[in-house]
Amino acid sequence: MITHTRNQELAEQLYNWQDQGNSIGFVPTMGALHRGHASLCTKACSTTDRVVVSIFVNPSQFTDKHDLEKYPRTIDQDLDTLSSLGVDAVYLPDADDVYPVGYTQPVYALGPLEQVMEGLHRPGHFQGVAAVLDRFFKILPMDVAFFGEKDFQQLAVVRKLVELKGYQLAVMACPTMREECGLAMSSRNNRLSLQGKQKACMIHQGLLDIKDQTADIFEAELIVQTIKKWTALGMDVEYLELTNGSTFQAAQPGTSLLLEDPWRLFAAVHIDGVRLIDNLALRS
Ligand code: PAF
Repeated sequence: MITHTRNQELAEQLYNWQDQGNSIGFVPTMGALHRGHASLCTKACSTTDRVVVSIFVNPSQFTDKHDLEKYPRTIDQDLDTLSSLGVDAVYLPDADDVYPVGYTQPVYALGPLEQVMEGLHRPGHFQGVAAVLDRFFKILPMDVAFFGEKDFQQLAVVRKLVELKGYQLAVMACPTMREECGLAMSSRNNRLSLQGKQKACMIHQGLLDIKDQTADIFEAELIVQTIKKWTALGMDVEYLELTNGSTFQAAQPGTSLLLEDPWRLFAAVHIDGVRLIDNLALRS
């Protein structure tokens, strides 16, 4: 496995591989790798001939500077993990290699994605995500980019960016990896106390319960009851919604939940001061 801190050297290597007939898979990460990231890399290794992973804690997507400072950094461990997974190259840049002197962040027309859920609650976050991915997609040659469905709204932002900028790139969605209790894998889970983790395990169960009890018509009461239950457990619920995973419009009480529509439950909660998100397809 080779490691590059400068994009030009890495791009040269990737072009060489492409010239030899290899397809390139790209897995962007912010490090602190867990089984969720590992599953993206494994999928990439079985889909494309060569796999490059970036590890870069992107400042422009953090709306809370405290969150940026607290973001776990475990580079040595991450490199061991990537090497054992069969990854070919790692991009480990400093900020100035991603955002060179004179760079100004564009404004991306992300539409409704910025007005609901993560877009609404973390203003500027998706602009920062789009900015860093726009840079990666521009400076590194690649054929397929891999993203987890845990960040389902981010996945839609990536697809929108690819459309807006006309990148010749396939975006592959990979299923959420979960701990045994159902908790979605996240680098933030390590910051939970033992008690906090037990509460966090209830998020997935709550989503499953709503899914099981939802028939053809949306009943907002199911959401209200779950928020009450979670709040009683000591969770601070930021949002819990049933939303169309394609249009990102929330279901209203009485909405007919047609089978062909990709309805999804989305939640963001705070436990022990840690912000956790999850989502679940209503029909699957
Ligand atoms: O999902 C993440 O870890 C980040 O948002 C990403 C895609 C690596 C961009 O910084």
